[in-house]
Amino acid sequence: MPIIAPSMLSADFLKLGEEIDMINNSEADWFHLDVMDGRFVPNISYGMPIISQMKKRAKKTFDVHLMVVEPERYLEEFKKAGADYLTVHYETGFHLHRTLTSIKALGMKAGLSINPHTPVDMVKDIIHEIDLLLIMSINPGFGGQKFLPLTYNKIRQAKEMIVKARASTLIEIDGGVTLENAADIVAAGTDVLVAGNTVFSSPDPLGTIKKLKQIGK
Ligand code: DX5
Ligand code: ZN
Repeated sequence: MPIIAPSMLSADFLKLGEEIDMINNSEADWFHLDVMDGRFVPNISYGMPIISQMKKRAKKTFDVHLMVVEPERYLEEFKKAGADYLTVHYETGFHLHRTLTSIKALGMKAGLSINPHTPVDMVKDIIHEIDLLLIMSINPGFGGQKFLPLTYNKIRQAKEMIVKARASTLIEIDGGVTLENAADIVAAGTDVLVAGNTVFSSPDPLGTIKKLKQIGK
């Protein structure tokens, strides 16, 4: 059974409280929160003030995905805002080993994300420092994009690397996850499914989350 992490980027921000309650009452496991700076990605979303407000109402793990340059400047602030998992991008870091150990020293789980063009192998030497490996299955920046099929190979490679290293890293897939492709994504070795559009554009979000959760059961 995969961990389900609905992406709040696709929520209705005018009804944010109700959307949070819906996730609280669903079979979802985590809240996936996308922070975008308009520099690492061509879009700007929300930051710490919104996340700390959401934390007051949400009852599940906060999985914060930073799509920002120089993420190491904000680790403590995201901890204060309520992040449980804090994920930075491989492509933004000169000193990722340090950043990952700093995240853990602050009491959070450390995530590392790779864009579609970044080979899985690039994270091999630091795999034991990574609690969550977020493999982007779209080019980050926007919800509602189409899943890139090249991701399947990356999931299999990542799974093999993690097993070989006897690491406990979770594999998370983010972007274009649907009810149609989710079973194949999980079969390839995925532990955590992020779903934005598939959940929030559904006429029955609770039912959609339930279906995602039942995969591989
Ligand atoms: C995009 C974000 C995703 C996004 C996924 O850069 O990282 O989390 O919300 O949205 P869907 O599931 O609609 O592709
Ligand atoms: Zn994301």
